[in-house]
Amino acid sequence: MIFLAFNVLIPLTAGALPQDGQNSTECSQSIVHQSIIITVLVTLTHETWLQMLKSLFYDDLDKTKLKLQNNECSPLTNANNENTQNFIVEDQKCEDEDVETEDVENELQVAARDAIGSDKLVLCKEGVGGTYFLLDDEENKFGVFKPTDEEPGAINNPKELLDEPILPPGGGAKREVAAYLLDQSRAGVPETYFLNNVSSTVFCTKNGNEPKSGSVQKYIDVIGSSSSFGSSCFLTEDVHKIGILDIRILNLDRNDENILVKKEADTLRLIPIDHTYSLPPKIQTPYFEWMYWKQAKLGFSDEMKDEVNKINIAEDAKLLRNIGIDEDSIMTMRITTTLLKKMVAKGKTLFEIAQMICPVGKCKTSKLEEMIQIVSKQIESVPNQICFNEKGEKREGGDLFIELFCRVIDEL
Ligand SMILES: Nc1ncnc2c1ncn2[C@@H]1O[C@H](COP(=O)(O)OP(=O)(O)OP(=O)(O)O)[C@@H](O)[C@H]1O
Ligand SMILES: [Mg+2]
Repeated sequence: MIFLAFNVLIPLTAGALPQDGQNSTECSQSIVHQSIIITVLVTLTHETWLQMLKSLFYDDLDKTKLKLQNNECSPLTNANNENTQNFIVEDQKCEDEDVETEDVENELQVAARDAIGSDKLVLCKEGVGGTYFLLDDEENKFGVFKPTDEEPGAINNPKELLDEPILPPGGGAKREVAAYLLDQSRAGVPETYFLNNVSSTVFCTKNGNEPKSGSVQKYIDVIGSSSSFGSSCFLTEDVHKIGILDIRILNLDRNDENILVKKEADTLRLIPIDHTYSLPPKIQTPYFEWMYWKQAKLGFSDEMKDEVNKINIAEDAKLLRNIGIDEDSIMTMRITTTLLKKMVAKGKTLFEIAQMICPVGKCKTSKLEEMIQIVSKQIESVPNQICFNEKGEKREGGDLFIELFCRVIDEL
């Protein structure tokens, strides 16, 4: 039972009749105001009370709910909604037209745009790319910007140290963002987004002075890179997580400088950076620094096995498609992730899986490349009906490839 008590103010107005010599206006000014207050006590059942509240607020609650739902599927760059920033999730259309759907930049992007616009950035001396550290008002680094036209091999690269980059220039920003999206903070890839149309006099502009676009990544305060430490100090869990990420994106450049080391209390934690050379359009030999670290030979924990088992390759492909990664590179991810999932389920170690992906000993081709050749031959000679599913629809080439690839793995 709900008790409601409220006071009611009842005005009692005592008017005065016009006296001799007064007109009606003068008379109204002489009205005497009086009032009394009555306290009313009302008793309500819970149901009636809730019904009243619902009818008062229902509309607003409903609209708020709708807006929250729409934020989840919009390309809004809300800093708290990292997984959906800068890409539109397919199959989820926004229905509320009131909701702002144009690109809204998140905190990091806004700060990066401000810093770049006011020339608060410095070129990183290390490395081969045009990589800039972004500075805040206290001159502290808070972000890392990599303009697309300053990648190794690109027209405005300030260092010109590499004649032949591992992959052609131009796709680095997408691959940096892709690694962050696929990782979803598991291995700790720092927040990474696109940043478009920014200008600064600090940039290297050998060819024109156009605004630049690229990737912006959160700067992590670290104590060095893994090259400065003995690998035995690192947590097995961290090594396994980076290994899993590298296999999923077939990282061609996981050298020891691309694993940063952060101190957390007395523990050294690993931060994977620099995914410019990942997701190649065809299977090729990767570089995995961790492959010969002792942790790679230890079995995966049950939690890690579960994480791998939960990876949804179709969802990952969607994520990559939505940020413009080409279909060939998506196929690379599908192949390596399929292998990873199957091998982890069979109880293989990170080292054993990496050995299937990298040519070992005198071999020029890896086990994975051999399997791909087998599948490619099978596809050439498959009877026509295998190209159609049970419903008689033509199967997408990639699906057929993966199906046959799974059979080849199962026969190992
Ligand atoms: N998110 C980050 N937080 C802290 N430091 C970073 C971060 N990203 C990059 N760095 C530093 O900047 C250096 C260059 O960055 P990165 O390796 O991404 O660029 P690059 O120019 O492509 O170099 P590379 O020669 O390795 O290809 C790194 O070695 C590291 O010291
Ligand atoms: Mg690097």
